[in-house]
Amino acid sequence: MKIFLDTANLEEIKTACEWGVVDGVTTNPTLLAREIERTGKKPKDILVEICEMVKGPVSAEVTALDAEGIYKEGKELASLSPYIAIKVPMTVEGLKATRKLREEGIMTNMTLVFSLNQAVLAAKVGSNFVSPFIGRLDDIGHRGMDLIRDIMQVYENYGFGTEVIVASVRHPEHVYQAALYGADIVTMPFRVFEKLVQHKLTDVGIERFLSDWERVKDKIK
Ligand code: G3P
Repeated sequence: MKIFLDTANLEEIKTACEWGVVDGVTTNPTLLAREIERTGKKPKDILVEICEMVKGPVSAEVTALDAEGIYKEGKELASLSPYIAIKVPMTVEGLKATRKLREEGIMTNMTLVFSLNQAVLAAKVGSNFVSPFIGRLDDIGHRGMDLIRDIMQVYENYGFGTEVIVASVRHPEHVYQAALYGADIVTMPFRVFEKLVQHKLTDVGIERFLSDWERVKDKIK
């Protein structure tokens, strides 16, 4: 399972990359706006910096809504780095643009996906990635992870090559379930990423080993 960070925060990405377990990054206009406000940097410079740190797929989202506009914006973003994947909303215009971008070998990620049928359409136009938003489904009383289970099953039924990015992740339990369902990728905020490593028994274990070792330290000099 690949681990992506769902943030545009350069500090968080730098810290997480040092752990050696980050395979990619996903951004969206909200996350990028937050980083522009925090740093005063230009969006394109932020994206290039992220690509240089991550050296893996970095999703950059278009804001145009018509197919031609999405295609043009996508081409421009893709010229920033070979690591850029163009994030395109799941609409009719988005499908048309994704097909066109894929024909030119540009990486794409169809986003704002909330149903199995939408995920099938993303695979049909040859998108590299599809992003079902799990947390937002939970928020309205649906079972977000059931959608992941079903997409994984249907993609396997038909041998679709699109990779599933579990997105809108809220807590480590989403990551646990995504792994059980065999999701290709989970993208998560830094606060969830940090929690993956934590376990109080690990801390207690370290403390106990070190205090036992302390007792004999002088005897083994
Ligand atoms: O990757 C999708 C993500 O950015 C949306 O998450 O927390 O805004 O629902 P959230």
